[in-house]
Amino acid sequence: MSAAALQETPSIQVKPLSAHIGAELHGVDLTRKLDPSEVAQIRAALLRWRVVFFREQFLTHEQHVAFSAQFGEPTLGHPVFGHVDGHPEVYSISKYRKATRFEGQALLRPWTGWHTDVTAALNPPWASILRGVTIPPYGGDTQWTNLALAYEKLSAPLRAFVDGLRGVHRFTPPAGASGTEAFVKAVEQRVLVTEHPLVRVHPETGERVLYVSPSFLKSIVGVTPRESEALLELLWEHATRPEFTVRFKWEAGSVAFWDNRATAHLAPTDIFDLDFDRQLYRTTLVGDVPVGPDGRQSVAIEGSPVSAAAAVALN
Ligand code: SIN
Repeated sequence: MSAAALQETPSIQVKPLSAHIGAELHGVDLTRKLDPSEVAQIRAALLRWRVVFFREQFLTHEQHVAFSAQFGEPTLGHPVFGHVDGHPEVYSISKYRKATRFEGQALLRPWTGWHTDVTAALNPPWASILRGVTIPPYGGDTQWTNLALAYEKLSAPLRAFVDGLRGVHRFTPPAGASGTEAFVKAVEQRVLVTEHPLVRVHPETGERVLYVSPSFLKSIVGVTPRESEALLELLWEHATRPEFTVRFKWEAGSVAFWDNRATAHLAPTDIFDLDFDRQLYRTTLVGDVPVGPDGRQSVAIEGSPVSAAAAVALN
């Protein structure tokens, strides 16, 4: 075999997990720097399968950040809930999520439902990379849904209708924050509100994506509240149809890498009925400002865009 042909031979094996979304990737070691062909293969699999999974990758926080940085600029762990001490890019997702941003004080927050990460920001992170560390023996699976497919499977008249709509995404820190009064106040003030197109054009594939993030998308612009509610119900029910989804069973050392421009996901709630602990860590990559089919960008209403951890460290 020629050198050129050898170079083109994929070194990473792709094992799809469902018809439309999710694939396990094998034959790559994420603890070390990837070669350009591996980066290209992972990126291609991500665009094709929307979320890719790796097994038995026992990454340190540093390796997790280094892996992420090969695909984009890591953001601060979380714009509201902070990051792991000493690791500005890493967000802790424990059974009872804790924020460490404000002098190590903990914030207990309820779990949200189906969502795309941080869509209340003007430039939501384009990708998220989640690694499992402490995993329950059963329960605690995560699900993802393919929002490009959800758009495609709408009827033509409904596609044409939603193409022109925009929605308001709002993040209001949940009531019930624990900590000192000053801490709770600081968290409560971190409100983020953005108007995004209801259909966004994927900047890499050009596909139209039904950009609904149920936990954050609160209303549709320019229609009555009753119309907005009924329409959102219809779209959410459609977007989370089982045939658009994949369900992932975590193990310690599993890594999930997903494209937030084309997916929403659901964190598990069954773990609260079990005594087992669950600890994962997430990084996210700085995203662009969504654009609708009419070329109009999203508009920030309240709060600042998501920044790169490196940029914040410089300030
Ligand atoms: C997330 O929403 O990013 C976390 C999902 C999970 O905990 O499974």
